[in-house]
Amino acid sequence: MRARRRHNDERISFQLDAAQSRRQVVPPTTGPDPHAQAGGSLDVLFLSASGQLGGAERVLLDLIAALRRAYPAARLGVVVAAEGPLVAACRHAGADVTILPFPPSVARLGDSSLARGGGRARAFLSAIVALPGVLAYVVRLRHVLRDRSPTIVHSNGFKMHVLGSLVRPPRAKLVWHLHDFLEHRRVMKPLLRILTPRADAFVAISRAVEREFRNITGRNVVQVYNSVDLERFAPTGPALDLDAASGVAPASRNVIRIGLVATLADWKGHDVFIRAIALLPRDLRVRAYVVSGAVYQTAGSQTTLDGLRDLATRLGVAEQVAFPGFVSDTAAAMRALDIVVHASTRPEPFGLVIAEAMATGRAVVLSAAGGATELADDGVSALFHEPGDAQGLAGRLEQLVRDEPLRRRIANAALHAARDRFQPSRLGKAVGRLYDDLSAPRADRP
Ligand code: GLC
Repeated sequence: MRARRRHNDERISFQLDAAQSRRQVVPPTTGPDPHAQAGGSLDVLFLSASGQLGGAERVLLDLIAALRRAYPAARLGVVVAAEGPLVAACRHAGADVTILPFPPSVARLGDSSLARGGGRARAFLSAIVALPGVLAYVVRLRHVLRDRSPTIVHSNGFKMHVLGSLVRPPRAKLVWHLHDFLEHRRVMKPLLRILTPRADAFVAISRAVEREFRNITGRNVVQVYNSVDLERFAPTGPALDLDAASGVAPASRNVIRIGLVATLADWKGHDVFIRAIALLPRDLRVRAYVVSGAVYQTAGSQTTLDGLRDLATRLGVAEQVAFPGFVSDTAAAMRALDIVVHASTRPEPFGLVIAEAMATGRAVVLSAAGGATELADDGVSALFHEPGDAQGLAGRLEQLVRDEPLRRRIANAALHAARDRFQPSRLGKAVGRLYDDLSAPRADRP
């Protein structure tokens, strides 16, 4: 449907755009910021709870790389609380890394899983059990900060906001980078409300996150959209053989490939995705891929691939749904797909995978709640469905599968929107300005 004229023109313009994207990857604005050529006095220590490359960590990497470009002489360091691929990636991006592992009790601590089902008492109990580990960690982290003595401490993720607030050196400014909603966090919400006065500035990844945090804490927040590595997430480049990765026979050539690319967190809507595939008319030639693996260690909030395989079997779509498992090169996985699905059942604070799929020039169907709705326009650069609505998702997928021109038009618009909205230089500049502002001596600051 909505298949209007100019199919061929669109195809050509799409290819041209793809070619241009190679040249436009580093627009003039990404050069060093003239007001901060050297950035010699800029000294930032980032705190990351995870050593994996989840969304928040990929944004941290982009930020480090953008700051390194804009402030060549800046001192950038990261404390990472677990070994993992983030460590080498940070070093590669231009930061030095200190690995300071969380004790296991602290690594497992997470209250998002307890938001539903589990009680507040249970959430507090696990926090109390982890308390000795937290205190020991605070002592060690304080040493690192004292030795290093940064001017800015920039924390990524709730655990690090708490720890950063407890250990911040008196003269350093503390920035919380807000990647998630607080509303359903039974422990974090009251805790961060108490600790908010200890932070100097807040960066929120979407207007939705900014609004929520402002409403809860009354503090002003700088809203800066996440960026995407536009060189990596581009329409042209290697594509993964998803069938081989899943151990299934190659799909026939005219099959439309639909993929959910998400961590195995239980709110990422894997079940909705599989239900939607089961609701598609049988005459559609599609193959679905669950491109997922466990990224975080937090207890209790993960879904399992075995459970999802069982679901596909129960719904009679075991043949149509393939499981390539964890894929590190998600850009190559996306390039192998025609349609990328985002199916989070809770409001998504941002949805980096949506931005990445848009930059890769894919047609995206997204779950319309939270910050995700700010990333694209329904019917123009993506199609929206209601969170948890498998029937609605199936309807959107059918539309895209049947209508190739619509698919191309949406993918093309997504590519343009992504290049405009998610440039790393924009993130680097906005955060750099915030640092400058925090570092400038101000009469109204003690
Ligand atoms: C968190 C959010 C996700 C966002 C990512 C990067 O994981 O849940 O929506 O894309 O951080 O900011």
